[in-house]
Amino acid sequence: QEHREGKYLQNGTVLWLTGLSGSGKTTLANHLERILFDQGKLVYVLDGDKIRNGLSSDLGFSAEDRFENIRRIGEVARLFTDAGLIVIVAFISPFRKDRDSVRMAMTPGRFIEVFVDSPLEICEKRDTKGLYKKARAGMIEDFTGISSPYEPPLSAEVHLRTDKETIDESVGKVLHYLKGALLFHGQ
Ligand code: ADX
Repeated sequence: QEHREGKYLQNGTVLWLTGLSGSGKTTLANHLERILFDQGKLVYVLDGDKIRNGLSSDLGFSAEDRFENIRRIGEVARLFTDAGLIVIVAFISPFRKDRDSVRMAMTPGRFIEVFVDSPLEICEKRDTKGLYKKARAGMIEDFTGISSPYEPPLSAEVHLRTDKETIDESVGKVLHYLKGALLFHGQ
């Protein structure tokens, strides 16, 4: 890992984006990936589309299944960091203990929790996938924010308010944190 990181001039790190459905996690993840990639970093996004259709296609949304989903993503993300990559993870990951157990398995400082915070009313109003409407109608069980809890981080490294900030502002806050965290060698 040390040799790889020396060669790539970056520390293998997980950027863990957590927040309600519709809070903007995937949009932010994709913007961040583009910017870091254009800066020459080795970076990769893991999100629901990639994982829930494949690695976690056997899992639903009960607390147990979500734990298992997050455990698998945490393992994959940790392996990517061992390979020297910056991994941007975008999942609701509603349970604090599930996120914390991924953090505990990582080298200190290599797990950066980003709270993608937007009030439920706003996420529900946006309803990009039409799922809140279905959840309110009782057509989806255990829907986060409606019939299943979301536990906000207590001390996330970065706290974004996507209802009040532009995407560029939110992305800027994350990049600012990364710079301060001395993630990039010699910069
Ligand atoms: S997590 O809780 O295990 O982290 P994950 O991020 O993988 O969830 O998946 C969330 C996405 O699955 C949502 O953005 C939504 O599109 C879809 N989804 C389907 N059913 C549910 C549900 N019951 N609760 C939350 N999201 C759901």
